[in-house]
Amino acid sequence: MPSSLALYIHWPFCLAKCPYCDFNSHVREEIDQERFASALTQELQHEAERLNADGKRILTSIFFGGGTPSLMLPPTVATLIEQACQLFALKDTPEITLEANPTSVERHKFREFRQAGINRISLGVQSLREEALRALGRQHSVTQAREALELARELFPRLSFDLIYARPDQSIRDWQNELREALTLAADHLSLYQLTIEPGTAFEALHRQGKITLPSDDLAAELYHLTEEEAASFGLYSYEVSNYARPGCESRHNLAYWHYENYLGIGPGAHSRLTLKGQHYATRRHRAPEPWAKLVETKGVGTKEETLLSRQEQTREMLLMGLRLKEGISLTRFAQKIGRPLADYMDQEILQACLDEQYLLLEEDHLCTTLEGRLRLELILARLVL
Ligand SMILES: C[S@@+](CC[C@H](N)C(=O)[O-])C[C@H]1O[C@@H](n2cnc3c(N)ncnc32)[C@H](O)[C@@H]1O
Ligand code: SF4
Repeated sequence: MPSSLALYIHWPFCLAKCPYCDFNSHVREEIDQERFASALTQELQHEAERLNADGKRILTSIFFGGGTPSLMLPPTVATLIEQACQLFALKDTPEITLEANPTSVERHKFREFRQAGINRISLGVQSLREEALRALGRQHSVTQAREALELARELFPRLSFDLIYARPDQSIRDWQNELREALTLAADHLSLYQLTIEPGTAFEALHRQGKITLPSDDLAAELYHLTEEEAASFGLYSYEVSNYARPGCESRHNLAYWHYENYLGIGPGAHSRLTLKGQHYATRRHRAPEPWAKLVETKGVGTKEETLLSRQEQTREMLLMGLRLKEGISLTRFAQKIGRPLADYMDQEILQACLDEQYLLLEEDHLCTTLEGRLRLELILARLVL
């Protein structure tokens, strides 16, 4: 019976829709803050009751994600934190992260977010170059991003920020300079994502029309290698495909996903993976904000779908998540969770080929990817798992 729990809270609204983004985010002229705050607390209460039926779970982290959760009212954040800490058991102080955008409106709320209990902030900086911010459709400037970073460093014990690289026309030298500037800003954690073209986004249409070109695979791989080297020279090691941290400053919340621990997601479109009475379930909430709120108001919970996962499905998910981590997957932990050895679920010929090509490594108790393997992870997993 797993007792730990990571809690994800989704705020589905943004000031504007960024042209590259396919997250569950929506723009509204006016947001009914009270309605959404109340639906979130109601859904949390509902889910906690069934989760705690066999004893209180231990809450290890809370993550306010989005959308743009820094558009929430600080008292809503405070209420949700207080409620979660009462509903679940606490061992150590949970890691409580808020994703924030660095516009000046949001920066002015940072102090109140800190008072509400946020102890880690993750800023969506995206770039330290003005023209890139414009091209990415961002609502903030480089100066605002720097101001937000400075204040965040003062107020919050832990700070991370996001950058998007491998952008159209970005040379190795350009990225090296930008990344070095970012690394001097003294965050303990960075999320560095290569730009991807997501279905249904404005960038996808531009890409199709040939108006946006991404770096070639070779250039993207070179940029990735460079990123790892530069981050390491500033003491941030790459612990996951796109995440870099000082040792001990890894995102505890995201590690719960990658370690395939139990997590509860509340809010529109949020996902959960929960073990209830020895069975493992995948739960997904209604994606559209207003229908989700309506569902919560009538049924107490906005669940769209809940499915029981077979051991095969759990294996696939565990590999997909675990192999993103540099440390890889512990064979012992896998066998404890699934009840059978990992080898039972893998095509042995493909596994051997991946080991020969040095995409995968078997090191004592761990199966892990090399840098080359991580660049091809999705392709490898599609063939490897039976
Ligand atoms: C939930 S999103 C955004 C959080 C926050 N609203 C913001 O915009 O900063 C988390 C991160 O995913 C990254 N991201 C989103 N879409 C992406 C894409 N198509 N390619 C690369 N990174 C992307 C961005 O760095 C973003 O900060
Ligand atoms: S990147 Fe962030 S701000 Fe932009 S649309 Fe997506 S969630 Fe909203």
